[in-house]
Amino acid sequence: MAREKRRFVCQECGYTTPRSLGRCPTCQSWQSFAEEIEELTTSSKQRGIGQISRAPEPISQITATDVERHLTGMTEFDRVLGGGIVPGSVVLIGGDPGIGKSTLLLQASDALSRNYGDILYVSGEESVSQTKLRATRLGVVSDTLYVLCENNLEQIEKHIETLQPKVVIVDSIQAVYLSSIQSAPGSVTQIRECTGRLLIYAKNRNVPVFLVGHVTKDGTLAGPRILEHMVDTVLYFEGEQHHIYRVLRAIKNRFGSTNEIGIFEMQNRGLVDVMNPSELFLSNREEEVAGSIVVSSMEGTRPLLMEVQALVVPTNYGNPRNTATGVDRHRISLLIAVLNKRVGIDVGGADVFVNITGGLRVAEPGIDLGVLMAIASSYREISVDRRTVMVGEVGLGGEIRPVTHVERRIREAAKLGFKRAIFPEYNRKGLKIEENIELVGVKDVYDSLSALL
Ligand code: TYD
Ligand code: MG
Repeated sequence: MAREKRRFVCQECGYTTPRSLGRCPTCQSWQSFAEEIEELTTSSKQRGIGQISRAPEPISQITATDVERHLTGMTEFDRVLGGGIVPGSVVLIGGDPGIGKSTLLLQASDALSRNYGDILYVSGEESVSQTKLRATRLGVVSDTLYVLCENNLEQIEKHIETLQPKVVIVDSIQAVYLSSIQSAPGSVTQIRECTGRLLIYAKNRNVPVFLVGHVTKDGTLAGPRILEHMVDTVLYFEGEQHHIYRVLRAIKNRFGSTNEIGIFEMQNRGLVDVMNPSELFLSNREEEVAGSIVVSSMEGTRPLLMEVQALVVPTNYGNPRNTATGVDRHRISLLIAVLNKRVGIDVGGADVFVNITGGLRVAEPGIDLGVLMAIASSYREISVDRRTVMVGEVGLGGEIRPVTHVERRIREAAKLGFKRAIFPEYNRKGLKIEENIELVGVKDVYDSLSALL
């Protein structure tokens, strides 16, 4: 027998209260509460059925078998997953509408169905014919890729029972619902319960499940954070709408390294792997321009070369502004403060624009030095030789702090024809670079300014 209990749930973070509130006390969002009915049915207690309880074993006695991963055939996708799909894993893919989540999964399903057997693609948002149109455009014609247009999870489960697919894709988790729960599809309770059901299915049957998740205005996955805790892997698909490049980023991965990124190009026949991303993010300018610096950022296990451009111009009216694309604006303010205090370069009365070419977003501190030098270079109107690459984190004292994987970063640059690397002196110990590239170790901002400008 079901026992009903009414409550209000914040649709942004999952906070629960018996009364509706105007503002959520945990995530501070306004008007985010919706009434939901908490069902304590006996069936929810039976969820564990089917899982055979095993006695605890000493870890030394457990034999781990190397799982065989399924490959999607899309090199970048497989890498972000940690080397392919682990059977029984649940992968959540989030991203803005129209970024290409459905396209990515449809393309991956094609290769998967050819290599591993029946794949079920559940489309809760588009009709079967819409999916077919997209598939035609992408050249997806596999006989073993099944499309189901259904929102009711109980029905979906029945089809899964009959088809016994090798991989299940649910596009999107916000669109499916369980009829035993009264809350609307997309509500916190529905998302949590549906994910829970799919999770148990994936683990019991050892079948991987992909979930598409929508993001809210501020770019986090809709539904409670709990969704991210439940699944094995969380990937974000991002990119500037107006750029053709898309970045698939691992936020959480139980079966691989996080912060790994995969880069795709959106073409008119779907997503294509980008094999040599470093070349891509360097603008192919011949002449040198003040304010432009090449940096090397570690994106997961790969060094990626990209260009930082800065423009320092006198403020015309009002207060000076900092505008940043691809880098954190607060980080820019910090670097401007360091320039001012440690080397006496005062850009206080000017607008500062900083941009990472190619529409990439970088959060890695290793690009600090490059950003700082780009600002200084633009301020002084002195350009830096374009075959110079920079790495280093900048501390508040103006010191250049060591960064990870210096060797890999510099070698990647050398491979692409760079002639000089500016890097933290602290990283010099044990550094082995056989390539032909001049190594300039710097200890502080003053050092690097005198080396370059
Ligand atoms: P879609 O996969 O529908 O995005 P999501 O599922 O994340 O909402 O992607 C749709 C966008 O991709 C749409 O704006 C058109 C573009 N697109 C292409 O440029 N080329 C293609 O081959 C396809 C299928 C889509
Ligand atoms: Mg879609």
